[in-house]
Amino acid sequence: MGSAGHQSSTFAITTPLYYVNGLPHIGSAYTTIAADAIARFHRLLGQPVLMITGTDEHGQKIQRTAEERGVAPQDHCDEIVSGFQDLWQRLNINCDRFSRTTAERHGAIVKAFYQRVWENGDIYAGRQQGWYCVSCEEFKEERDLLEGHICPIHTNKKVEWRDENNYFFRLSKYQEKLEQLYAAQPDFIQPASRRNEVLSFVEQGLQDFSISRVNLDWGFPVPSDPEHTLYVWFDALLGYVTALLDPEDEPTLENALKQWWPINIHLIGKDILRFHAVYWPAMLMSAGLPLPGRVFGHGFLTKDGQKMGKSLGNTLDPFALVDQYGADAVRFYFLKEIEFGRDGDFNETRFVNVLNADLANDLGNLLNRTLKMAGRYCDGKIPAVSPETFADNHPLKDKGSGLAEQVRSAFDQLAFSTACEATLGLVRASNKYLDDTAPWSLFKQGKQAETEAVLYAVLESVRLAGYLLSPIIPGLATAIYAQLGFTGDFNEVTIGQRFGYETHSLWGVLPGEQPLGKAQPIFQRIELEA
Ligand code: MSP
Repeated sequence: MGSAGHQSSTFAITTPLYYVNGLPHIGSAYTTIAADAIARFHRLLGQPVLMITGTDEHGQKIQRTAEERGVAPQDHCDEIVSGFQDLWQRLNINCDRFSRTTAERHGAIVKAFYQRVWENGDIYAGRQQGWYCVSCEEFKEERDLLEGHICPIHTNKKVEWRDENNYFFRLSKYQEKLEQLYAAQPDFIQPASRRNEVLSFVEQGLQDFSISRVNLDWGFPVPSDPEHTLYVWFDALLGYVTALLDPEDEPTLENALKQWWPINIHLIGKDILRFHAVYWPAMLMSAGLPLPGRVFGHGFLTKDGQKMGKSLGNTLDPFALVDQYGADAVRFYFLKEIEFGRDGDFNETRFVNVLNADLANDLGNLLNRTLKMAGRYCDGKIPAVSPETFADNHPLKDKGSGLAEQVRSAFDQLAFSTACEATLGLVRASNKYLDDTAPWSLFKQGKQAETEAVLYAVLESVRLAGYLLSPIIPGLATAIYAQLGFTGDFNEVTIGQRFGYETHSLWGVLPGEQPLGKAQPIFQRIELEA
């Protein structure tokens, strides 16, 4: 599955382009962390990778937000965008492209794409009547609304009645082609629950949707009728295409599509599934373009079991979280603790307990105490033990040897928690092995060779764990490698050349006699204030 297996093929992944109605919240951080981890995994595999994120800046919601603040929409967008960029830096997000829908080059791509769809006869003028949720930027069916015409996603907002002349996209024409797509490519929509949701929506019969608005300035004019403004979602989805342009490229579709298209994975939250799994492939079919590899819709985060929201006053501020606990801690908690695809919860006590147990105790202490012993018993060097001398059923060699394949298949399925659990299994086994073999007493008994063999096996297992977890906790992985005497940083985009998966994902890689770095706790235990 996926593109693992052919190392030289390119790999492109996107997060949604986030609305700039406010600073990023934990939901946007969650998608971005996950996309970053996948991108990093593919870099380890040695593939050329393009990780795309960005912002969705047009439409009524943004225009109103700017008006309420009394600032020009572009100034408002610029300000919020710098907040996004700041958070991604703090979270150690290694994105290759940051796509903004207000960029001039994006206008050229939208125009060219619209032209193709227009020439294909898929755009026509009509009349749109219905309930519109400005927060979703989406028309809602009467039957989907809560009592009092409230949007089920934005329960503090009333939907608005619209009755206007709009241009429509002929979605209904693509009914059969979409059904064929879902049948021919069963993993186009993941996980399975999301796929089923889409299938039953499509089964009800697809209706054309309007792609223009009147009485709205903040957006691109409709190329065939500049009195109208292009619907924000039509413009936003194309931001994925614009992102593929190299900085020096002329903004043409040909240039955008030359290297990275089709995108391998669109990572999104479940609330915007329809746009990505139904509207977007139909738009691409209309323009005659190949389709993306898959659309993965993750679940929603709650806090202490409750839906997060400004009105509930229980939002989780990602800036505060990362400032207090650091990027690796935040990344690890969300990817390890929540089964990707399902809803998940944040609870601070649980958060602290997980980090202390897995990162401070199991991983951090293991490395620290083993390094100290290697300092005393092995002259501060990796013991010169040949990995072939370990029997195949040696507990750590045995566990470590199959791990790379397990982790790789977990990453292919975006099963981050499975990848973490499998790797932590080796870490826990190493702790047990250390206690069982007690190298401190072996050393006292003068059993130098046995002592060295034990320490080698444990240090090698920590190395492998650090390596395989590096897409999730790149900072800690870099510290582990440094203390084991390697030069290199897991934030390098060419990491797959320096520490290639073909070798570093195997067990038995540590070179004997390599001088060790200074032993320092890689993750401080967190004390939760009462
Ligand atoms: N602008 C559109 C996307 C256009 S893509 C061409 C948009 N932006 S958004 O900022 O509102 O949402 C971005 C992402 O945040 C979505 O994937 C959404 O699912 C996610 N989340 C918003 N709240 C969330 C949680 N509470 N938990 C997890 N993710 C959530 O939609």
